[in-house]
Amino acid sequence: MKKVAVFTSGGDAPGMNACIRAAVRGAIYYKTEVFGIRYGYDGMIKGNIFKMDSHSVSNIVQKGGTILKSARSAEFRTKEGRQKAFEQLQKFGIEGLIAIGGDGTFTGAKLFYEEFGIPTVGAPGTIDNDLYGTDITIGFDTAVNTALEAIDKIRDTADSHDRVFFIEVMGRDSGYIAIQSGIGGGAEIVLVPETLTTIDDVINTLTQGWNRSKTSSIVVVAEGDEEGSAFEISQKVKKLIPEKDIKVTTLGHIQRGGNPSAQDRIIGSRLGLGALQGLLNGEKNAMAGIINDQLVFTSFEDAINKSKPLNKDLIEMVNILSI
Ligand code: F6P
Repeated sequence: MKKVAVFTSGGDAPGMNACIRAAVRGAIYYKTEVFGIRYGYDGMIKGNIFKMDSHSVSNIVQKGGTILKSARSAEFRTKEGRQKAFEQLQKFGIEGLIAIGGDGTFTGAKLFYEEFGIPTVGAPGTIDNDLYGTDITIGFDTAVNTALEAIDKIRDTADSHDRVFFIEVMGRDSGYIAIQSGIGGGAEIVLVPETLTTIDDVINTLTQGWNRSKTSSIVVVAEGDEEGSAFEISQKVKKLIPEKDIKVTTLGHIQRGGNPSAQDRIIGSRLGLGALQGLLNGEKNAMAGIINDQLVFTSFEDAINKSKPLNKDLIEMVNILSI
């Protein structure tokens, strides 16, 4: 393989730049020409492709976001869009791709491989940590720490005013950010999509705390929870206990930004280089991941479709520790 290209797609995640840097520097080390594609699949369709060198990735390992920009491409979901993308890659002579992103990115890459045979290896870049085939995704650790910092600050004011705070964290359909930031932040309750927690359960736990003379409470809600958003849940709770002072904070996209943690820089580097090495060694249609500290490859099919369940012990631990 003489020419490869790297791109980021879907929601950005801290550590993606470390991953890009490793893929680019790895390609140069192995004497392979390397291109960057801006704006993910959208840029591929439009031919927003440029040659990269070692200097293109200088001074980025510590930066959040992605220097290659990102997008969610509606056009790539069509056959015509993918055809255009293929023609652009041919124009540049690109023979293999490194896709940094989440399940949407890999769903696109899988389809693209099946239709046009362009070998692609993925690196899992998403704050959600929802991909099978890796213990951790790039960006998750930083996002958890960002959420945790916010929870700590909210706890101060919750305590001063004897308030109940419902704090919504990201994660799409997954409760990973919620459970980890909830445990780290000492939340009384963590609501995640993976388990059913009813409004009655919430009120019972809060009441038990107040009976033990707790004056303030932190409830962490994963955005995909079955009872609704943190705001909706707080409204339901408020109806049943109108005497309590209840506030809601939705952390939102703050969780996607910021300088990557040490862990995200390191796994970003390992997965970027690992994906590049895999591609050059004949891996295709697969995602590089880290399991038990070892680099492994998992088919896109499995990475997208198999679930990575939350550790139930963690959920149980929240209940035990909130007494
Ligand atoms: O997948 C990462 C993520 O931040 C999710 O946690 C969230 O549901 C989604 O992206 C938000 O996407 P957007 O930035 O397109 O609104």
